Amino acid sequence: MSDPEPVRRIGLDNVIVADTELSEIDGEKPELLYRGVDAQELAEKSSYEETAYLLWNGELPTRDELDEFRAELDERRGLSRGVAEVVEHAPEDAVPMDVLRSAVSTTQVYGEVGETPRENALSVLAKAPTALATFGRARRGEETLEPRDDLDTAANFLYMLNGEEPDERHAEILDTALLLHADHGLNASTFTSRVIASTESDVISALTGAIGALKGPLHGGANQDVMEMLLDIDESDKDVSSYVADMLENGERVPGFGHRVYKEFDPRAEVLKEIAEEVSETTEGPDWYGMLEEVEAYLREEKRIHEKGISPNVDLYSGTVYYSLGIPIDFFVPMFAVGRSAGWTAQVQEQYDNNRLVRPRAEYVGERGVEYTPIDER
Ligand code: ACO
Repeated sequence: MSDPEPVRRIGLDNVIVADTELSEIDGEKPELLYRGVDAQELAEKSSYEETAYLLWNGELPTRDELDEFRAELDERRGLSRGVAEVVEHAPEDAVPMDVLRSAVSTTQVYGEVGETPRENALSVLAKAPTALATFGRARRGEETLEPRDDLDTAANFLYMLNGEEPDERHAEILDTALLLHADHGLNASTFTSRVIASTESDVISALTGAIGALKGPLHGGANQDVMEMLLDIDESDKDVSSYVADMLENGERVPGFGHRVYKEFDPRAEVLKEIAEEVSETTEGPDWYGMLEEVEAYLREEKRIHEKGISPNVDLYSGTVYYSLGIPIDFFVPMFAVGRSAGWTAQVQEQYDNNRLVRPRAEYVGERGVEYTPIDER
């Protein structure tokens, strides 16, 4: 049987290349489901670790199953000396996403990731937050702290970064933010992880590639841009409306607004908006939440919202939430990676379970028949 005619779709927009049972994004309702369960409901009632279990196993865990899963993570949270040295000795101005990517990759070099895809995945989930927190301390000249068995992923991260047991509510808030980033269909980084897995390469390689893809400003990055915009407004002599007006005038996009799929609203942003408002009431300094409301009101007045389908997205609020928890601005994208690790690892397993090598084609549009010129004649 001859191959079907090639289909040309640059960027693969709207092309279905895999079946998934992991997350469903309905831009019309709008709604995000993890394994059929509403992510907004999970954000309210569940935890990041419970959601990771759900994504991996297809059903919510019993209490015993969750305890066992948590124990498997606890066993793996520490870094071997080899990996700790890579992170601790990174230059203090190293880009945190580069450090995270290198740390995840290096765990395999030091043989601390186990044999099976599941062991590899547990290792990433457990060690990525430790590596990031370790770098956060090292670049401030502070000693590395070992993870604690009595704290979950979010609380452990805040403890290892800040050196003190986090406020319970702050740990819950970070947990919710990680949960809301756990999976989101076949975005660029998830696709990257599945392409790597489709060659039957290992989970660590797939996750290293995914982190590299998320680093690009067209994918991760808007949460950091939002916070930088707010800091810039605060330092400038402009009010919020004239600052945003100038951005639009210059043809710039306002970070934290717009989404390829969600045109009415991003369900993740709804949850984080409430949290952003809550933390703003207890955080000293400028009223970041109030400023975001002003940005939104201005875009609404300008009829950009709804008419252009650019309502607030998840990144609009996650930045101010992380900032209020004392997480450095250049850690915002790595936090996204930490949360998304649950989905990446589940997607990689799904690819292994029903694998076909991903091998699209490119159309050759270059010259033909070019003669070879010997090097000394060029
Ligand atoms: N600010 C101002 N105008 C915008 C914005 C924005 N943030 N987003 C889109 N628009 C305008 C566009 O200029 C365009 O206007 P035009 O019709 O006059 O040319 C119109 O809205 C439609 O824009 P598209 O590019 O078609 O929207 P698309 O769905 O392709 O883009 C995207 C989505 C990339 C997220 C875009 O909205 C954007 O760049 N947003 C800012 C960055 C951001 O917040 N990214 C995070 C997304 S969520 C995530 O990745 C986790």
